[in-house]
Amino acid sequence: KRVGVLISGSGTNLQALIDAVRDPTQHVGAEIVLVVSNVANVEGLRRAERAGIATKVINHKNFGSRVEFDMAVNQELISAGVEIVCLAGFMRILSVDFVEKWRGRLINIHPALLPLFKGTHAQRQALEAGVRVSGCTVHFVEPDIDAGAIIVQETVPIEIYDTEETLIERIKTAEHKAYPAALKLLATGKVRLGSDKKIFWC
Ligand code: GRF
Repeated sequence: KRVGVLISGSGTNLQALIDAVRDPTQHVGAEIVLVVSNVANVEGLRRAERAGIATKVINHKNFGSRVEFDMAVNQELISAGVEIVCLAGFMRILSVDFVEKWRGRLINIHPALLPLFKGTHAQRQALEAGVRVSGCTVHFVEPDIDAGAIIVQETVPIEIYDTEETLIERIKTAEHKAYPAALKLLATGKVRLGSDKKIFWC
């Protein structure tokens, strides 16, 4: 399957996806053909370039509305023949139009065990709530933020000495396993989104 990855920053999840799809022993069944960033000069773009993957910067500030920006992104994905879109630290909310065009082929990673701790600073939210485990979730994208059927979750312990930084790091390590695993499930047809928007295991 031809995969497009949308990023805004450091791209460590992008790197995990690049490494996994290129590892012939993992049989992910996917190829990353395009990386789109809404921010120029980020490390994620350099990771893509180093891997020889086409990149495109589409700055949301150059568009009059969210929908126009989304349609520009959509156009790039279509032109590249993308079949599956992975959001990997992409810091823009996508319009209903975009989500509907890509529903079932659009996935995201969130640094908490959804449905807990949606939105930004999920790791800080977990620390403030005092839970003793957290983790990450890869899910199909719906117009509502951090909603959508769950494909893979990985847990991590929360240690009594954890700070936001140490927890972010531990969860990232889990993310780098969970995202390739979820992409493989989707790309190889082991999972899909049912018409009821619930997960369907094939
Ligand atoms: C990750 O924590 C991911 O869960 C969240 O944004 C962060 C992106 O990190 N959606 P990176 O750019 O992949 O390093």
